[in-house]
Amino acid sequence: MSKKSSSKSSIYPKDLEKETAEAELDRFLAPEVEEEEEKVEVTLRPQKLKEYIGQEKIKESLQIFLDAAKKRKEALEHCLLYGPPGIGKTTLAFVIGNEMGSTVKVTSGPAIERAGDLAAILTSLETGDVLFIDEIHRLNKVVEEILYPAMEDRAIDIVIGKGPGARTMRIQLNPFTVIGATTRIGSLSAPLRDRFGTIFNLDFYSDGEIGQIIKRSAKILSSEIEKGAVDSLSRRSRFTPRIANRLLRRARDFADVRHDGTITGEVVEQALEMLEVDELGLDKGDKKILLTIIDKFAGGPVGLDTLSAATAEDRETIEDVYEPYLLQIGFIERTPRGRKATRRACQHLGNTHPDDLQEKLI
Ligand code: ADE
Repeated sequence: MSKKSSSKSSIYPKDLEKETAEAELDRFLAPEVEEEEEKVEVTLRPQKLKEYIGQEKIKESLQIFLDAAKKRKEALEHCLLYGPPGIGKTTLAFVIGNEMGSTVKVTSGPAIERAGDLAAILTSLETGDVLFIDEIHRLNKVVEEILYPAMEDRAIDIVIGKGPGARTMRIQLNPFTVIGATTRIGSLSAPLRDRFGTIFNLDFYSDGEIGQIIKRSAKILSSEIEKGAVDSLSRRSRFTPRIANRLLRRARDFADVRHDGTITGEVVEQALEMLEVDELGLDKGDKKILLTIIDKFAGGPVGLDTLSAATAEDRETIEDVYEPYLLQIGFIERTPRGRKATRRACQHLGNTHPDDLQEKLI
């Protein structure tokens, strides 16, 4: 295993276009990280497992796998991380890279269009490198098939020539680790899933853990923050570190421009009111989805495609970005016939649940 200091090198094609539907999402919930934000995110990222807050069970298992791999002087087993956007999959991949003293190379499923692109990436890996593949469920089939022998036998098979004279040549690769990240474990093919030695499901964070992340980030950003502000930001962070850090930065801007720089509870309330983020962290998009179910579909159930058409939100965005939190706080239910809004959601929005409305009429 080479002992390099962990560094990141991007192998995204330069002209990779962001998905338009995602780009239109409000920055507060957007799953993708823009260049400017990425710079700040990198400074806030924990480097070591000890600094990583939350996901205790995963950290415990990971520590054992890391220690074992280091002791045997082997590359870590391929590892799959799944969970909602912003939950810390990329952060954890870099922590793993750092712990192994490895270089982390970053790419993503949609960025690798041809088998040759992946072959070029794989043959460039050095001993012990980590290849982080974000949105791995979006790899196309042809590319995915190159990955199977690469992960299993550390080799790629290249076809030379055409027709009856064609031969395959096997190229051996250096020992490396794939860390795959996905928001949709169900969209991963079984053969790909089976090639990961470990699979970790990153879950939402508790309010307390989000509070610790906010305090840690404020300290790194040299911002004074009061306890009331930490609590208020935590409640609105959708149990998600990336959102917590985004809201913290907005509150910090507000504190710097309109106040004396200290982030108080009052500053947070004002900043988030301006951003139209309510006390549970719901924004305009969430409300549009909930009110569409309640008003247009009498509380549901309504199918995902119909909901997508009625709200003009992309189906994947509803499923990956909005729904996980709305399900977590018990505002929607998934039924075989579609999505339903709960009484709790109606109460929060100040509406009467359509079922109760009918009872009143009877
Ligand atoms: N920043 C983002 N995610 C984090 C985490 N889990 N722990 C510490 N800082 C973080």
